[in-house]
Amino acid sequence: MRAWYAGASTIQTNIAPQDTGRFLPQVKPGWAYNASLGVAAPILLDGAKRDRAVWPGDMGLSGITAFLVFGEYGLTAFGNAIETLFYYQNTTTGRFPFAGPDTASFRSGSTSDTYHAWSLISIYEYAIYTGNETWLSERWENITRGVDFVLAALDNTVSLHNQTAPNDWGRQGGGEYNSALNALDYHALVSLSSLASAWSDTISGRTRAQTWALAAARLKSSYNSHLWDAPANLYHDNTTTSLHPQDGNALALAFNLTTSTAQASVLSTALIQNWNAIGPVTPELPDTISPFISGIEVLGHFAAGQPVRALDLVRRTWGYLLDSPLMTGSTLAEGITANGSLYYRSTAGYNYDASYTSLSHGWSSGPTIALSFKVAGLEIIGWREWVFKPQTGGLRSAKAGFRAPFGEFRVQWVVRGKEDGDMIFEATIVTPEGTRGRLGMPGECENVLVDGKAVAATVEGGGIRVVKATGCR
Ligand SMILES: *[C@@H]1O[C@H](CO)[C@@H](O)[C@H](O)[C@H]1NC(C)=O
Ligand SMILES: *[C@@H]1O[C@H](CO)[C@@H](O)[C@H](O)[C@H]1NC(C)=O
Ligand SMILES: *[C@@H]1O[C@H](CO)[C@@H](O)[C@H](O)[C@H]1NC(C)=O
Ligand SMILES: *[C@@H]1O[C@H](CO)[C@@H](O)[C@H](O)[C@H]1NC(C)=O
Ligand SMILES: *[C@@H]1O[C@H](CO)[C@@H](O)[C@H](O)[C@H]1NC(C)=O
Ligand SMILES: *[C@@H]1O[C@H](CO)[C@@H](O)[C@H](O)[C@H]1NC(C)=O
Ligand SMILES: *[C@@H]1O[C@H](CO)[C@@H](O)[C@H](O)[C@H]1NC(C)=O
Ligand SMILES: *[C@@H]1O[C@H](CO)[C@@H](O)[C@H](O)[C@H]1NC(C)=O
Repeated sequence: MRAWYAGASTIQTNIAPQDTGRFLPQVKPGWAYNASLGVAAPILLDGAKRDRAVWPGDMGLSGITAFLVFGEYGLTAFGNAIETLFYYQNTTTGRFPFAGPDTASFRSGSTSDTYHAWSLISIYEYAIYTGNETWLSERWENITRGVDFVLAALDNTVSLHNQTAPNDWGRQGGGEYNSALNALDYHALVSLSSLASAWSDTISGRTRAQTWALAAARLKSSYNSHLWDAPANLYHDNTTTSLHPQDGNALALAFNLTTSTAQASVLSTALIQNWNAIGPVTPELPDTISPFISGIEVLGHFAAGQPVRALDLVRRTWGYLLDSPLMTGSTLAEGITANGSLYYRSTAGYNYDASYTSLSHGWSSGPTIALSFKVAGLEIIGWREWVFKPQTGGLRSAKAGFRAPFGEFRVQWVVRGKEDGDMIFEATIVTPEGTRGRLGMPGECENVLVDGKAVAATVEGGGIRVVKATGCR
């Protein structure tokens, strides 16, 4: 699909050499790209033209895309951006910076609770894609300090994070027990807890894993009792507002803040209310379609087991982003207005300047991730751990692959017969030695064989596996 390659082209233009950041105050007219971007390069940035800087929220998606499309080279750029965050991590509080050193946000000392959580999520992603134990042990103290910052914020009677630094991706409002922030914290804690228990064999590592998992469980329970609006089938932005944000709800769905498949299903359906002909108009930033938050929504619909809806959204928004004569045809814009214009954030910081909007922004590459990890369906989900759980969404075949430093992953599948009846699903997957994974079929199948034998709960990695499922619906 074109959307996959557009994500790849976008990331390619978002990886830059060392001293090519935007010089501030911005030269007018024009641009000067001579500022230092971080501690090393090549380095992964938010956008090709602007800001040309390290931004942790963006990296939560663009780091995954960089790995999927460029393998070890993408990981190098992702890693150098993460090292920049470590370098500027606050030694007293453990807080990561809001953005890289060549931004106004960095210079003013602005902080962001959501981008701190995105930093931890990016670190987790980088750790499981590289599988680099040396790096992880060298960085472990930095990582635990970062998690401690979140634990301290959750240490209250409600076990939710009161958002006091609401700087974010450009949205308005925020504050108090914000649903996006708490979904991000939850994902950071659950992920890093699984990493701590899988990777560390020390007592302190295991204790940490338990502490983090417990904080995550309390958060999830409170999240649902304080933020779920049952009549609306959506989460509130916080406990004092009637706003149902796209970001908090998409993140809650993608990161499993829901407590049942039924709840995930109604939440996925409720999100459609925001959609116009070209995509979801965000309640938390009026007159805006955000391909960043909508990319997370795409992943959310897959998490809810709604691949047809997810692909509808991809075609709707990314079809527009690729076909509109306002765009490049090959890279993905940072954001658009509800009518598709480039007057993104006109009244919210960009001063009615359509030329200020980035036309190549890696945070808009969610569909590349979704097509590889959710549709083709082979995904790294933990330390040396993967899952194969394809979701066809009406497609009849798919093929994908990516290369981690610890080995190659490849997948190819075809569907025969009717989708709703006696469907036959055949797949070949290649995974590295020393890994393990689980298999899930697209839908309910009567009979599943792996290499001709009944499927086991866990499958050892290494070599080629042939999966054949029959009687699927
Ligand atoms: C970067 O460019 C600006 C604008 O031309 C200039 O003022 C500045 O001195 C340059 N900085 C470096 C390090 O070359
Ligand atoms: C670290 O955080 C503390 C507490 O918020 C703050 O006072 C200090 O200025 C920060 N340090 C840096 C280098 O920003
Ligand atoms: C994290 O690592 C860097 C080295 O890159 C170090 O300078 C910094 O002080 C560390 N931060 C904390 C909170 O330990
Ligand atoms: C693993 O990380 C270490 C420490 O950062 C680094 O020196 C080494 O090159 C990395 N290994 C690979 C295979 O990238
Ligand atoms: C959240 O923090 C703000 C700023 O410190 C404070 O005024 C407010 O009372 C806090 N809210 C809750 C619910 O703790
Ligand atoms: C709750 O969220 C709304 C919408 O984002 C925001 O306007 C409001 O200030 C927040 N409430 C508090 C107490 O921060
Ligand atoms: C999501 O959370 C529920 C518990 O609320 C759990 O049973 C389920 O396994 C989780 N799903 C994933 C994919 O982790
Ligand atoms: C699209 O929306 C922008 C911003 O709201 C507005 O300035 C512009 O006139 C609209 N364009 C059309 C063709 O309606």
